[in-house]
This record gives sequence, C-alpha cells and structure tokens, in this order.
Amino acid sequence: MNQVKKIGVIGAGAMGSGIAQVAATAGNKVILFDSNTEVQDQAQELISKMLNKLEDKGRLEGSAEEITKRITYADDIAEFKSCDLIIEAIVENLQIKKNVFEEIESVVSDTCIIASNTSSLSIASIAAACKNPQRVMGIHFFNPAPLMPLVEIISAVQTDPQLTANMKKTIESWGKVPVSAQDTPGFIVNRIARPFYGEAIRILEEDLANVPTIDWAMKELGGFKMGPFELMDFIGNDINYEVTATVFKEFFFDPRYKPSFTQKRMVEANRLGRKTGIGYYNYGEDATNLDPDRNDGLGEYIVNRIVAMLINEAADALYLHVATKEDIDLAMTKGVNYPKGLLAWADEIGIETCLNNLEELQAEYGEDRYRPCPLLRKMVKKGSTFYE
Ligand SMILES: NC(=O)c1ccc[n+]([C@@H]2O[C@H](COP(=O)([O-])OP(=O)(O)OC[C@H]3O[C@@H](n4cnc5c(N)ncnc54)[C@H](O)[C@@H]3O)[C@@H](O)[C@H]2O)c1
Repeated sequence: MNQVKKIGVIGAGAMGSGIAQVAATAGNKVILFDSNTEVQDQAQELISKMLNKLEDKGRLEGSAEEITKRITYADDIAEFKSCDLIIEAIVENLQIKKNVFEEIESVVSDTCIIASNTSSLSIASIAAACKNPQRVMGIHFFNPAPLMPLVEIISAVQTDPQLTANMKKTIESWGKVPVSAQDTPGFIVNRIARPFYGEAIRILEEDLANVPTIDWAMKELGGFKMGPFELMDFIGNDINYEVTATVFKEFFFDPRYKPSFTQKRMVEANRLGRKTGIGYYNYGEDATNLDPDRNDGLGEYIVNRIVAMLINEAADALYLHVATKEDIDLAMTKGVNYPKGLLAWADEIGIETCLNNLEELQAEYGEDRYRPCPLLRKMVKKGSTFYE
C-alpha cells in the first residue's frame, strides 16, 4: 500500500484551506499553494485561527502550534515534487484543472496519487489530461471540510481500483467517513439531494404552501435540521442553482433534474441568500418574515412528497450502481445531515407506499420528473426491502 504522508493541496480557498487543515491535523506534512498570494496568506491566517480556537475549546488532538508547523506554503507547483498525494481544490473549470494536472504530473514521482475535489466535473475528463490516468481519482470533501465528516472517493474508468480502496483507509485514518462513488454527475450527495431543493421549489411554484410553511414541515415533521429554503439561502442560491444546472446538463437534460425559474430569478435578482442579506428570507435587521401555516395535513403532504422524491433518487443511485446501499445512506446522513438514511427510511415507510406516492404524482402531473425507479417496482413485486 502506498504510504501517504506528505500531502500537497493546490488551491487555498474555502475547500483547499480546510483540506490542508484536516490533513495536517491527522499528522501529515502538508504543502499548500494558491496562484493568488493574497488568498494563500489569508488561508495561513485562517488555518492558524481555526486551530487555536479548536485548541481553546479542547477539541483538538495535538497542539495547534505543532499542527500549524506541519503546513508549509509553496511559491510554485515545482515544490510538490516529494508529495505522496496531491489534492487539487482550484476553480471549477475543466480546462484550468486539466492544465494543472498536466503540470503536477510533470513534477511528482510515478507513485504520487493525484486527486480532484471537484463537485461537478467528471474525474474521467480530468484524468484524461494525465499520462498515467490510473493514479487519478476524486476525493470530494464537504464544506467546511474540518467539520463535515463525509468524503466521497470517486473512481474514474481509468482509476486503479486498488488505489481507491487504499485511499478509503487513508481518509478514514484522518477521522473522516469515506464512501465510494462512481464517476457520475453529482456523485452521491449532490445527485440524491436535488429534490430536497427542486421539489420544495415546485411546491412553492404551485402555490400549495409558502416558504416558511415548507421549511416548518421539513424540520418539524420531517426531522431535517434545516428547511430547503433556509438551506438554499445558507449555501447561496447562485451556488445551488449552478449545481442544479450542471447536474441537469450532465444527465443529458433528464427532466428529473430540471432547474426552476424561481431559483434562476432569485440569482438574477441577486437575492443569493444570507450573503446578500436577502434570499427566500430577508436577513436585514428590521426584517419581518412570514409565519408558517402549521397545518399538519399540509405539512405531511409536503414531507411525503419531497421524501418520496429523495427516496426515488437514492433507489436509482443504488439501482445504477453509483454506490452501495450502506454508502448511500451514510453519505446523506454524514454529508448533508439527513435525519435518516433514505433507503432505511424507505423500509420504514414501506416500499409499496413509496412506489404508490411516486405513481400518484406521476399520474397527477403526467411528467417524467416523477417516474419511479425500476428497482422500487421490482422490490414491490418480490416483496423485498433494502435491509432484510
Ligand atoms: N465550496 C464548496 O462548497 C465546495 C464543496 C465541495 C467541493 N468544492 C470544489 O472544490 C473546488 C474549490 O472550491 P472552493 O469553494 O474552495 O473555491 P474558492 O474559489 O474558494 O478557491 C479556489 C482557489 O483556487 C485558486 N486557483 C485558481 N486557479 C489556480 C491555479 N491554476 N493554481 C493554483 N490555485 C488556483 C484561486 O485563487 C482560489 O483561491 C472546486 O472544484 C469546487 O467545485 C467546493
């Protein structure tokens, strides 16, 4: 097994700085590089501040000073020569990533593993820039990397399967929860979570319920930590819209993933959420927001509809071998804090009820968006469950 001890991180923005912190906290030597020296300096300050804060709260294994010393800052990619693993976390642009991968490969040893933290690009397309694409994989952290336990490990068609199996162990030894995913759009979480936002917006567009009511239902009755609109405002409507639009395009315009005008207009109006002071909610000091309509019947309808769509996505990801059922459930609980794994939840609800809910929606709307996953039909015929 390739011993991973010296890690190079390229890109010191939100993700790169967090990944560097995680790797150094786990005892590795880390080199961090950003082409923007200002960002690199900010990252150095931020990491040190974060580690000191954690130490003060008694939530750090080891001393902040020692961990900080394990991270050095490079002026050039040439300084990554002796790294065992490089994690790229630069701007989400295929051509720029390909150029950087080519440059990395010209510097590192033959055994160095090269990974991308991309959220939406295919690993196969990035790996194609390398002479030795077998060593390229996706290592997808969630934001903020030091806090979110989930890491998706993605194999491209070119990747050596042994390397990804070993990487799972390495990432686990960093205190994270790794899951394996196929190189398909959105990997696990960003694919399965789409209806959490999309179906909530659809319910809003149909004027079946307003924003606070949908959020209230999903939190109070569904058990989710945040409602869909609160979460979109938190993530940023521009970022969420971009992910939705990319997943839709990458799925060859499957209507299931169709973005909404509501979200597009929010972006066009610069109502991006918390960061612009207004999104679905108003975050101004004197702002007043509507109260939810705490109607249990309506609330249950909302939860049943959105959860049915989420379960359909989870079943589809399993059916198409994107990941195992255990990894799918882990991904949604550890990556986006869902109250339960969706497949375990389907068993609880009953597979037949899940299928009926989807068939009713499909019959009512006549849209392919609601087509049930074939796996659910097969399971109902056999009378089986996900976890027997
Ligand atoms: N932000 C998230 O929530 C999130 C979550 C998971 C994955 N990702 C992915 O992680 C990657 C980085 O995202 P981010 O949010 O940290 O972006 P960011 O904009 O905060 O940081 C990207 C950094 O890359 C630097 N950079 C650009 N080109 C470079 C180059 N050629 N060499 C070195 N540095 C370069 C930029 O100066 C910038 O500081 C993207 O691929 C994104 O899709 C983001």
